[in-house]
Amino acid sequence: MQQLQDKHLLKPFSYINGSWHSSESSFLVTNPATGEEVAKVSDAGVAETELAVKAAKDALKSWSSKSANERATLMRNWFNLMMEHQDDLGRILTVEQGKPLAEAKGEIAYGAAFIEWFAEEGKRVYGDTIPGPSGDKRIVVIKQPVGVVASITPWNFPNAMIARKAAAALAAGCTFVVRPATQTPLSALAMAELAERAGIPAGVFNVVVGMDARGIGKVLTQHPDIAKFTFTGSTPVGKLLIEQCATTVKKVSMELGGNAPFIVFDDADIDAAVQGAMASKYRNAGQTCVCTNRIFVQQGVLAEFTEKFSQAVAALQIGNGLDAGVSIGPMISSSAVADVDKLVTATIKAGATLVAGGSGHSQGENYYQPTILTNVTTDMPIASNEIFGPVSPIIAFSDESEVLAMANDTEYGLAAYFYTRDIGRVWRVAEGLEFGMVGINEGIISNAAAPFGGVKQSGNGREGSKYGLDDYMEIKYLCMGGLDK
Ligand code: SIN
Repeated sequence: MQQLQDKHLLKPFSYINGSWHSSESSFLVTNPATGEEVAKVSDAGVAETELAVKAAKDALKSWSSKSANERATLMRNWFNLMMEHQDDLGRILTVEQGKPLAEAKGEIAYGAAFIEWFAEEGKRVYGDTIPGPSGDKRIVVIKQPVGVVASITPWNFPNAMIARKAAAALAAGCTFVVRPATQTPLSALAMAELAERAGIPAGVFNVVVGMDARGIGKVLTQHPDIAKFTFTGSTPVGKLLIEQCATTVKKVSMELGGNAPFIVFDDADIDAAVQGAMASKYRNAGQTCVCTNRIFVQQGVLAEFTEKFSQAVAALQIGNGLDAGVSIGPMISSSAVADVDKLVTATIKAGATLVAGGSGHSQGENYYQPTILTNVTTDMPIASNEIFGPVSPIIAFSDESEVLAMANDTEYGLAAYFYTRDIGRVWRVAEGLEFGMVGINEGIISNAAAPFGGVKQSGNGREGSKYGLDDYMEIKYLCMGGLDK
């Protein structure tokens, strides 16, 4: 952290109502690449969370009464500051999360893009007029901010997952409280520092950092002053939070787990498919909800794809994300490594063949070697579990209907990918896949203009795009009567 150009971006406190709050106790944030201490962060709890909710409630009237243009100007300042400090923000992200610096800086630009995009889109919140059932009535529909929004965000995208939610909330006129993951709070706090410099008023954007996940989570899901709750994380935790939100009937949006199929048909451009699979699988060391989880390859190109994919995997450079040339960093923790290793071992025991990797790495206890398994079948444990690590199971298939059935045979429905050059198949498969997002001859699908979200147990609601604002707005119907003379 000595290398930060702007040292004031490193804030080890919660940010509530426009001020930095320290607490008596603290916890350590460590660098997953080295195990070294990055910062000692104040450990906020239930009391601070309640303060943040109150601040957001108090700020709501004035923020929601601003014009969309006024909000957009402040958000644009925030976007500009994030891009001006992209290097420092990227460095903070790499040391607390582990992803390579170039990828971390990419995440800053990705996160900032949501702020820019929603700042503009907030100006286009249109209502409606509807022909009434009788001549003396008019029906008008307006959209209004839902109110205070609370959120819990994950460690895998410490900047972008907050930006994607907060940008839509603020543009809609809502105020916002977030509890970021305790492994990666510094990126969230740096965002708060820049929000303040951008002129976002006190209470509009609050960050509560604390180890009491249960206590803080209860406030954020059950407080009567919170109108909407949004979460990105695992499906089991999401289900629990939905239950908690039911007590006050909050509006919820959930971006949960995935089990993405990546399908390579015989007629695909194999080099493009290999490139797409690499990007989709090994981004963030495989710790991404939309990461490829199962690679299905048609028999006719199985040997060619496996050979070229293995070569690409062998070229990955593993190490500390701050070092030049590193393309894949550590995983978030040694327990994450152990979980992945257990899954790989069980899959090999069930009959799969290990082609590459398959164990930890000499770099340290948080590293796992990029791994390829072949001869995988859909009844093996790896096919039904979200891997969340740098492991590629390859499953052979013979025809389109077989692979569609196998791809859809999961409780998840977040992202799917397929490669083909047959235009008829493009439509059949795109429409047949039961997933919220489909990459067609493309391995990277995320961007601010597109609706991100899943079906089935991968969640509900959409983030990003014009649809992303809807989750932060209520529709109000105005019935104007008595118009007859
Ligand atoms: C996620 O892993 O949940 C987010 C991935 C993305 O935004 O591309």
